[in-house]
Formats: sequence, C-alpha cells, structure tokens
Amino acid sequence: MHLPKTVLFLCVFGVLIGCFWPFGSIMSIYRNSVFIVKGLREFCKSGYEHAAKSFDKAALDVDVSSQAFLITGANSGIGKSAALAVAQRGGTVHMICRNQTRGEEAKKEIETTTGNQKVFLHIVDMSDSQRVSDFAKEFAESGKELHVLVNNAGCMVNEREMTSAGYEFNFATNALGTYILTSHLIPVLQKAENSRVITVSSGGMYTQKLDLNNLQSEKTATFDGTMSYANQKRQQVIMTEQWAKKYPEIKFFTMHPGWADTPAVQNSMPDFHARFKDKLRSPEQGADTVIWLCLAKAPLDAESGGFYLDRKPQSKHLPLAWTKSSAGDEEKLMTILEDMSAKFSKE
Ligand SMILES: NC(=O)c1ccc[n+]([C@@H]2O[C@H](COP(=O)([O-])OP(=O)(O)OC[C@H]3O[C@@H](n4cnc5c(N)ncnc54)[C@H](OP(=O)(O)O)[C@@H]3O)[C@@H](O)[C@H]2O)c1
Ligand SMILES: *[C@@H]1O[C@H](CO)[C@@H](O)[C@H](O)[C@H]1NC(C)=O
Repeated sequence: MHLPKTVLFLCVFGVLIGCFWPFGSIMSIYRNSVFIVKGLREFCKSGYEHAAKSFDKAALDVDVSSQAFLITGANSGIGKSAALAVAQRGGTVHMICRNQTRGEEAKKEIETTTGNQKVFLHIVDMSDSQRVSDFAKEFAESGKELHVLVNNAGCMVNEREMTSAGYEFNFATNALGTYILTSHLIPVLQKAENSRVITVSSGGMYTQKLDLNNLQSEKTATFDGTMSYANQKRQQVIMTEQWAKKYPEIKFFTMHPGWADTPAVQNSMPDFHARFKDKLRSPEQGADTVIWLCLAKAPLDAESGGFYLDRKPQSKHLPLAWTKSSAGDEEKLMTILEDMSAKFSKE
C-alpha cells in the first residue's frame, strides 16, 4: 500500500500527540470548539430571532387559571420571566427564592403587572438539601395542587465551596436540589392531569460526559466552576430521561435557554459577558422555550425526556464527542442521588 506522505505524517503526528497528550484533553478541546461554533450560530440573540420566525404565534394564547406552577429562582432572569408569563395567563404561581427581599420585590412586580393575586413566595435555598427536602414534603402534605414544576434555579460558583451537608455547592444546588425537589413532588404531579416538569439545563452540558466517579468534581485537581456546572447540567438531562421512562403519566423536559443576559452570566462569567454582551438574548427570549414547554399544547403530545432549544427537541450530544454514557451508569446516577436524598427525609 502506498500512502501519500502527508497522510503518513499526519498519522505519525496523531499517534505521537495521542501518546503525550491525554485523549481526554484532546476530546475536551474538540468538544469546546464545536460547542462555541454551535453557540455563535444558535445560542445568541440572532439564533433566537431566526428560530422565532417559525414559532406558532398562537401557541401561548392559553388560560391556565385552573393550574398551579412552582418555579425555582423565580425572582430574576429566566425564572421571573416565566413566572410573569404564567401569572399573565391566570395561573397560580409558587415562587421559590432564597432571598426574602429579592423574592418579595419580584412577587410585588408580578402581582402589579399582571393583576394576578395567586402568587405565593416560599423561601428555600436550593443548596440547602435539608431545607429543600423539608419544603417539598410540606408542600406534598399540604394538599396543594401542582401541575407544572420548573427547576430553574441554578448557579456557577467558581471556587470549590462545600455546603454544610458536605456537598460541592454547585452540585448541591443544580443536581441534588433538582433531584430532591422533583422526586418529592412527583406524587403531587401524578394527581394532576397533563402535568409537566421542565428543568432549565444548559448547552454547556454538551461539553461533558456523565462521570459517576467525579460527580462533584472531587477528582478534579484544579477546580473549574464552568466544568462543574456543565457536569451538573448533563446530570439534569440524564435524570430527566430516567424520570421520563419511570413516570410516563408526567411529561419531563430539559432545555437550553440560549445565552441570555442575566445576573448569573454577568456575575459568574464576567469575561464571557463582556465579550458577548451585544449578542446575548434578553431574559424573555431565554425564557421563551421554558414558557412554551409550560403552557403550550404541543409539548403534551411530544416524547417525554427531550432536550429543547427554541421550541424544538435537540440532539443531546455533539457529533463525535464521545459524551454518551452507558444505560448502567445512567441508572446508577439515580441510585446515588436517591441515597443522598434519603439522608434528608428521615423522620
Ligand atoms: N442566562 C444564560 O445564558 C443561561 C444559559 C444556560 C443556562 N442558564 C440557566 O438558567 C437558569 C436561570 O438563570 P438566569 O440566567 O435566569 O440567571 P439569574 O437571573 O441570575 O437567575 C438565577 C436564579 O436562580 C436563583 N438561585 C441561584 N441559586 C439559588 C439557590 N441556592 N437557591 C434558590 N435560588 C437560587 C437566583 O436567586 P438570587 O437572585 O437570590 O441569586 C435567581 O433567582 C439557571 O439554571 C442557569 O444555569 C442560563
Ligand atoms: C438579599 O437581597 C438584598 C437585595 O439584593 C441584599 O441587600 C441582601 O444582602 C440579601 N440578603 C442575603 C442574606 O443575602
């Protein structure tokens, strides 16, 4: 066989790089590059405007005055925008916020702009696993109705911090908090018709593969908040698929809001924000798909477990990115989270 010299050179070069440079970091550079290219095309304001041209304008003309919604992180950004949209259409809104002052301000704004008086504020810090568990149990036992749960609260803390229960802070908030709240509220959602759970994940999850041995970045020598966050956003996508399989009577979705200009982005990613601020979506544009998944009729007919951007189901993996995990690992994730969660539900 006669290989052209350049091909031969590239093969030798590739093998050498492969030997000296771990496969993991080559993969990581590849995934990040593909992710950025995709992001510039689809996740910015221009991507939203392009997609919005084919939106069904009437999809959100609904009255949800007989339904109750629970939205975490409802005082700011995407969560507040979703709470406003629901309140405007008559829904009962349970806002979950960690800060009383910020929560009350947002509640007042929602009430005055929509005239809806069925807005309730609950103070829960989603990083406080015991508090999340206690709140969810109280809610479930109160006999209150719930049709739609929106797991929106999320954070990207850039230093390794631990909660008092001993979990890495981002993990406690984004992954474990989502798991505990949702799993305790599933029995309440099962009593309602057409119930839905929407979890605000992130396109950042494209860069990560589930790693059961490093769920809290415990094996990562130099802690990286962006990677930790992206890992939990991947965990949310997998949790959602598992729930979708287990509870066919409820619709479960994850979604990516795109890149929207909110306090979370300003504070946690100041360099990214400074560079992209003119290209970012508004919080309302970021919230559009959350609102659509909560309110529109179409998602009730869609397959449960999907990951959405701009009202359309998306692939959960970038091409050739090696981010797919085994069915065994995905089931194991649920067992691990359940064991963690169980520690907080003791009588
Ligand atoms: N904006 C984007 O480009 C983008 C992209 C991908 C994914 N997301 C996701 O979108 C979701 C909403 O973020 P956002 O962009 O709208 O930012 P935001 O305006 O800063 O809102 C984040 C909300 O989450 C709340 N929150 C954070 N940690 C909490 C905790 N421990 N307990 C209770 N509430 C907590 C915040 O409360 P405080 O006001 O008290 O901080 C705030 O209400 C997040 O899950 C984020 O990861 C955003
Ligand atoms: C709550 O939010 C207010 C207004 O942003 C801020 O002044 C206050 O320090 C916050 N409280 C806590 C406990 O973080």
